[in-house]
Amino acid sequence: MERRIILVVDFGGQYVRLIARRIRELGVYSEIVSPEAGLDNFSKEEVAGIVFSGGPASLTMADAPSIDSRIFSLGKPILGICYGMQLMADLLPGGSLKANSRSEYGRAELIIKERADLFQGIASNGKGEGKWQKSFKKSLGVWMSHGDSIEQVPRGFRILAETEELSVAAMADTERRLYGLQFHPEVEHTQYGREILGNFIHQICGLTGSWNIKKIVSEKISEIRSALDKEAGVVLGLSGGVDSSVTAALLHRAVGDRLQCIFIDHGLLRRGEVQQVIETFTREFKLPLITVDARDRFLKKLAGVRDPEAKREIIGETFVRIFEEEAGNLKGITHLAQGTIYSDVIESGEHRNAETIKSHHNVGGLPEKMSLEIIEPLRDLFKDEVRELGEELGLPAEIIYRQPFPGPGLAIRIIGEVTEERLEILRQADAIFQEELKKSQVSQEIWQAFAVLPDIRSVGVEGDSRTYGYPIILRAVSSSDAMTADWVRIPGNELNQISRKIVNRVKEINRVVYDITSKPPATIEWE
Ligand code: XMP
Repeated sequence: MERRIILVVDFGGQYVRLIARRIRELGVYSEIVSPEAGLDNFSKEEVAGIVFSGGPASLTMADAPSIDSRIFSLGKPILGICYGMQLMADLLPGGSLKANSRSEYGRAELIIKERADLFQGIASNGKGEGKWQKSFKKSLGVWMSHGDSIEQVPRGFRILAETEELSVAAMADTERRLYGLQFHPEVEHTQYGREILGNFIHQICGLTGSWNIKKIVSEKISEIRSALDKEAGVVLGLSGGVDSSVTAALLHRAVGDRLQCIFIDHGLLRRGEVQQVIETFTREFKLPLITVDARDRFLKKLAGVRDPEAKREIIGETFVRIFEEEAGNLKGITHLAQGTIYSDVIESGEHRNAETIKSHHNVGGLPEKMSLEIIEPLRDLFKDEVRELGEELGLPAEIIYRQPFPGPGLAIRIIGEVTEERLEILRQADAIFQEELKKSQVSQEIWQAFAVLPDIRSVGVEGDSRTYGYPIILRAVSSSDAMTADWVRIPGNELNQISRKIVNRVKEINRVVYDITSKPPATIEWE
């Protein structure tokens, strides 16, 4: 069956990705496109509906992003959110905007005046239940973030809702299936946001919501098979992280042993990770895996290096060099697979316009000298979808739910010079911390947790003797995207237990410190 898709046009808003995700959660495949590209890369039949995202610009400014107004004549349902709605009012005849002296940001009370199909079936009795009834209070708490507002709705539109500040908070031309919302239905703070989006997608665009990850396993496999001819050989750098692991499992399912994986052990992984990657992929998946023990080579290159950026550069470069050497020895390789996922594509700005393209560097960078074709089977999937796909393919939970881990590994969690002795101290302390956190009350809140080894020593006392050992810094943060983060409130008794175990078991450590800084102003990693 042909895929039906909702396109989300990106006008630069902070919630663009969230809109696309919410739509996928509603069981409909969605993709983000730039206003310039519009429907260019899709067949007209494939597109079932369009969402215009919000954006930071003001339409009163000359260079505000816009879209070819012929999009309104395609007969596709369109939902404009925030800036997207204002753009509709600006482009369609009869509509007008006004610039407000101050912006409205945060919660507002939405008074629904007309239900139309967009607010269908949404409880409005303030108790979170029940169908629409005349006697009910017709208001919802919604999330606003805008400067300008609509003065006059375009011809053919009716006002569906207002707030105390806004005479037009929602509008619709139900004949032409054009809708606008000044608030953000995609954020959690908006009551019934999911239902409102659901109404647009299911009722208005007429989609059933049958898209799910199970279906896409077979879809992906046939996509890969048709992209690669029978002679094609694929090489993939496996890092042990979620994305490259899922890419490996998927490609192996699609092309079998024509996939060759290279796992470079740079000696900077956490305790047990190397063995786990090797076991999972060779024993369980029986996948052709070349493991390169490059620990000494990396350590030699890192000897005497203290600057964090210099460490990153050395590690990235050494990685690519080794990968090139190893891949160069393989026969019949025509393709290089990468574990690029949708957020990498969006962050690199590829969908915005061709000029800003920069390739995403997974693991340690792209071997530029190799003339291989790139294949990126996870390019259109969000992280949580990649995880689901991994589960579907039978990868163990330890790999699928692994915390994000920086490419340069433990080298940027050791302040100062990286030596084998210091790596081992860090690995031991980190392993105890991880083990204890598994049992913690707050384990679900943790995005990343790790230990950092500084290059100072402090005085302690053990029995009757003075010690002069390393402190260890523990950091555990909650986050949803690593852009901002907060430190996790690990209960005092748990911290106490962790601290005691570390100083008892790791003889070089005589002090434990817990980092209680959020990001910003700090970063997640110490280097
Ligand atoms: P910061 O420390 O900038 O980290 O708050 C944000 C996220 O990025 C990860 N990180 C890296 N990942 N190479 C990577 O692949 C790096 O050099 C690197 N530095 C930081 C970090 O673990 C966190 O998830």
